[in-house]
Amino acid sequence: MTTQKVRVLTGITTSGTPHLGNYAGAIRPAIEASTHAEVDAFFFLADYHALVKCDDPARVARSRVEIAATWIAAGLDTERVTFYRQSDIPEIPELCWMLTCVAAKGLMNRAHAYKASVDANVARGLDPDDGINMGLFSYPILMAADILIFNAHRVPVGRDQIQHLEMARDIAQRFNHLYGGEEGLFTLPEVQIDESVATLPGLDGRKMSKSYDNTIPLFEGGRQALEKAVAQIVTDSREPGEPKQAEGSHLFTLFQAFASPTQIAHFRAELEAGLAWGDAKAMLADRIEAQIGPMRARYAELMAHPKQIEDILQAGAGKARAQVLPFMKRLRAAVGLRSATVSISPDHGVHGKAVPGHGAPKEAAAGKGRRPRLVSFRDADGRFRQRLFGVDGRELMLTEAFDDPKALHAGVQALIQQDLATLPADADGRVSLVADGQCLARVDQDDLPDVCTALAQI
Ligand code: TRP
Repeated sequence: MTTQKVRVLTGITTSGTPHLGNYAGAIRPAIEASTHAEVDAFFFLADYHALVKCDDPARVARSRVEIAATWIAAGLDTERVTFYRQSDIPEIPELCWMLTCVAAKGLMNRAHAYKASVDANVARGLDPDDGINMGLFSYPILMAADILIFNAHRVPVGRDQIQHLEMARDIAQRFNHLYGGEEGLFTLPEVQIDESVATLPGLDGRKMSKSYDNTIPLFEGGRQALEKAVAQIVTDSREPGEPKQAEGSHLFTLFQAFASPTQIAHFRAELEAGLAWGDAKAMLADRIEAQIGPMRARYAELMAHPKQIEDILQAGAGKARAQVLPFMKRLRAAVGLRSATVSISPDHGVHGKAVPGHGAPKEAAAGKGRRPRLVSFRDADGRFRQRLFGVDGRELMLTEAFDDPKALHAGVQALIQQDLATLPADADGRVSLVADGQCLARVDQDDLPDVCTALAQI
């Protein structure tokens, strides 16, 4: 058996240009984590979320391109991970609506970001809802959709997002309870707060942040802009030759985020021996440049050829949607958005098994009673196979050929007992239905939800 990979998912709001703090605090650790063998990483540009805060179309458009280019230039292996734009996956807002219809309004009232805006309005004597749009209010539900649609296990985020993860779990649980049958539909995501990751100080020593206007640029402006920013880092007024305290100086903290232990020890010793702040800044700029410089060339190349970026994102969207489409089919069916030909009985949830003697009379009364069927036959070679037909008569599955009809029957019965819905697709988009270690059939990934529905009703 192969061990199941851990699905790690995170989103980046596209409302600005990444700076050095974003790189060290989020991009670099995320890319590093994505290289681990057990990790199946999903990274996406949260551009619908950007619309909540930013009504400047040019800025949103530019940020999407810059952030994508930054991640690619920083070494993200876009073949290995799934890298996409939220707005390229229409199923996300579709799920967002389904979740909106189960999310408690009272829960949303408690969201920190929304409450902070209300409090600020009240403090200024304004109407509590002044300037607050529904996007801000529903922000956590869209975020829940981002996460739940991929059944992510782990979501690495900053501390400010912990509450959003709790809300995503809450909404998932409620949805599972209402529609998930025994096994549930959504995985409950775990928040991941990485304590070891560097939070970089900005030029003035406060956390590096665009809102404090204290950032060091990542790629823009080249080495020159980097040196210029580093020159503005606030230090104490010790003269050249005077011993300096490494610990507690922002300059040293920044250095640590870009240097090896040996380099750090050397730098500390130099500072304590009286290295001038000017020289220390030059050393820091060198260190940062050693890591960032090579990526900057790739960034410039991508920005000059945005088609390369677009192609990568389109491929990512394709990969993401291959995952999402069959699951969305299941979700739609689970809430009752089914084909008109599917039983109207409430007892035939996609996931849950039909309750014997419960749905049937209603079906009969409605003149329905059509069930999915399994049909056994012998193929041209005289071997045994079965076909599965859905309620609408469509062939959903054809089994492999068996010499022994009993073995085939036992295999299909074993299949019926399994949760097939989460089986992964092979590279060709088909899913192998395996029971007791043998592959009974291969079906199109898009048909998997219908196959599950049908088998559950056999
Ligand atoms: N709200 C997150 C932030 O501001 C961005 C985000 C949107 C996100 N959707 C997500 C993060 C899903 C993790 C998972 O940082």
